[in-house]
Amino acid sequence: MTLSPDQIVPTATPPTSALPADQRPPGFALAVDDDLALLLRAPHLAARMFALQSADKDRLAQWATDEMSEQSVRDGAAAALAGFAAGRVVPTCICWRGEIVGAASARLDAWSGSAELGYFISADCEGRGLVTRSVRALIDYVAAVHDVQRCDIQAAVGNTRSLAVAERLGFHREGVLRSAWSVGELPRVDAAIYGLPMTERPWI
Ligand SMILES: CC(C)(COP(=O)(O)OP(=O)(O)OC[C@H]1O[C@@H](n2cnc3c(N)ncnc32)[C@H](O)[C@@H]1OP(=O)(O)O)[C@@H](O)C(=O)NCCC(=O)NCCS
Repeated sequence: MTLSPDQIVPTATPPTSALPADQRPPGFALAVDDDLALLLRAPHLAARMFALQSADKDRLAQWATDEMSEQSVRDGAAAALAGFAAGRVVPTCICWRGEIVGAASARLDAWSGSAELGYFISADCEGRGLVTRSVRALIDYVAAVHDVQRCDIQAAVGNTRSLAVAERLGFHREGVLRSAWSVGELPRVDAAIYGLPMTERPWI
């Protein structure tokens, strides 16, 4: 699949769409379908992202530490935006029917021509296919724009929903990284590694 220019559109994103046009921060969206888009994750979206992550704090405890604050989310978004400008990462928020409901990102490795994908969605938006559809669009974006040849997904072996996203997208399980990571005081976990060469995307 190639990206059509119409797919990448300038946008006034929540919560800034209420501002007068000349005060809105710049942004763009990658249209996924009629009610789903990926917004470039920029500092002006930090308040919304922080609210989303705070509301799901217990569920996201394996990925977000207790020290998270609106300022740390804002700083993280600024760092991610600098990484986007440098071609190291594509950081996005998942926007469904005008509301930010999750995130999907690709960390780029120029040397290997690969990208590692990460994602989350709010609990009340699980089970609608929003992540699968968003990540599929993100894969096509990094393949078309950054010439990525292979995508990877790593997920804790017990994270069945995350593994299901990878499998639904046609990724193959290629191994297990033992004692792969830990967050905060939590015990280390084994992680399954999934890979998809761009030539094997089932939807192209
Ligand atoms: C992992 C996580 C992102 C998966 O979210 P999810 O909602 O299960 O994934 P999707 O949005 O792709 O939804 C898939 C479900 O929608 C259904 N669906 C409906 N329409 C669909 C469509 N058009 N396309 C694909 N699936 C669709 C699927 O059948 C599936 O249903 P099921 O849950 O009954 O099996 C989510 O559980 C999460 O945020 N967890 C916490 C953070 C996390 O673990 N992140 C990953 C770290 S590696």
